[in-house]
Amino acid sequence: MRIFLDTANVDEIRQAARMGVVSGVTTNPSLAAKEGIGTAANYREAILQITDIIDGPISVEVVSLDAEAMTEEGWGISKWHPNVVVKLPSTTAGLEAMHSLSKEAVKINQTLCFSLNQAILGSQAGSSYVSPFIGRLDDKGHDGMDLIRDIVEVFKIHEIKTEVLAASIRSPLHCIMAAKAGAQIATIPYKVLCGMMEHPLTDAGLDSFTKDWEYASKS
Ligand code: E4P
Repeated sequence: MRIFLDTANVDEIRQAARMGVVSGVTTNPSLAAKEGIGTAANYREAILQITDIIDGPISVEVVSLDAEAMTEEGWGISKWHPNVVVKLPSTTAGLEAMHSLSKEAVKINQTLCFSLNQAILGSQAGSSYVSPFIGRLDDKGHDGMDLIRDIVEVFKIHEIKTEVLAASIRSPLHCIMAAKAGAQIATIPYKVLCGMMEHPLTDAGLDSFTKDWEYASKS
C-alpha cells in the first residue's frame, strides 16, 4: 500500500518527505483553509511548493458545485503542474465533470465517496482514484472499512483500474486495516504517519541499549 500525506501544510510535507515513505499528497478546501489559503492563487502557490517536494500525484479539489463550472475549474487546476490530480465530488454533477475531464486525459480523484455505487459510477466516468472516507463513516456508526473491502472486491472482480485511496484516516489502526483490505493507497495526516512508527518496545529497547553501552564504556 502506498502512502500519501493528507495535508496542505508544506512544512509537514517537507518533514515526511525526508523519511522517504510518502509518494503523493491529498488536499481539500478545509485543509487549505487551515493553512490560511483562501484564494485560488494562494492554493496554486502552495501546490507548486508541494510539487517541488514530492514527485507524485498531488490532489487539488474544486470548489465549484455545478458540472460546467467544476469542469472549467478542474481544467484550469490540471494546468498547474503535470502531477496535479483534480478532486471531484461524488455527485451527479461531479460525474459529468469526471467524464469531460478524463476524456481530456486529466487525472481524477473521486472524493467524498460513501458508497459502493458512487465508486462504481465514478470508475465508469473516468476516475483514476476513488477516496472512500473511512473516518467520517465510522463517525456515523457505520464500519468505514467495510466500504473499502467492498470496493476493492468489486473492482477486482470487474478488473476496474481505478485505484482505491483510503481517506479520512484517523489512526494507525485504520492504516493497518486499509492495507489488509487491499486499498492501493492510504492518505494519512502527518500525526498518524508518525504514530504508525511509534512503539513503546522500540523506545524501551533503545533506552536500554544506550544505558548498557554507556555503562560498558565507563567500566
Ligand atoms: C481526503 O482526500 C480528504 O482530504 C481527507 O482524508 C478527509 O479527512 P477528514 O474526514 O479527517 O476531514
